[in-house]
Amino acid sequence: MKKILLMHGPNLNVLGRRDAKHYGQCTLKNIENLCKTAAKSHQLSVLTYQSNHEGDLIDTLQIETPRCAGIIINPGALTHYSYALYDALLDTQLPIVEVHLSKIKQRESWRSQSVTAAACIKVIWGKKEKGYLEAITTLVEYFEK
Ligand code: DQA
Repeated sequence: MKKILLMHGPNLNVLGRRDAKHYGQCTLKNIENLCKTAAKSHQLSVLTYQSNHEGDLIDTLQIETPRCAGIIINPGALTHYSYALYDALLDTQLPIVEVHLSKIKQRESWRSQSVTAAACIKVIWGKKEKGYLEAITTLVEYFEK
């Protein structure tokens, strides 16, 4: 069974308590369970990981991704400035889909830029939790190609 790493960066552990207008009402557990259920219907398993610390995310990418077939990541604010995370994503050589719950292109101007996007096959934003389901479909289609 192929395994997907579902990774979340800073502050996404408190989803459900963050501004629902931007991020919706789902908790991180809700999103992880949603992804696990959707992935299972495509014979995929999901490994979940969240950290508020850049280095821990990078360590996990280095340790876990040799046994993964793809990655779905919401890097939180690291999206906008972490070249170290970008390098770590690129080094995995895996298909990666970046997801943002909110409309990052329609908020503060600094949120429009993603330095991690260039390591990804697709960036999905502004669809709240539904974006994750699209990310799974994207990876499934990529695997079938
Ligand atoms: C986010 C958007 C980021 O700008 C922000 O820092 C987050 C969440 C999103 O899912 O919309 O923490 O990645």
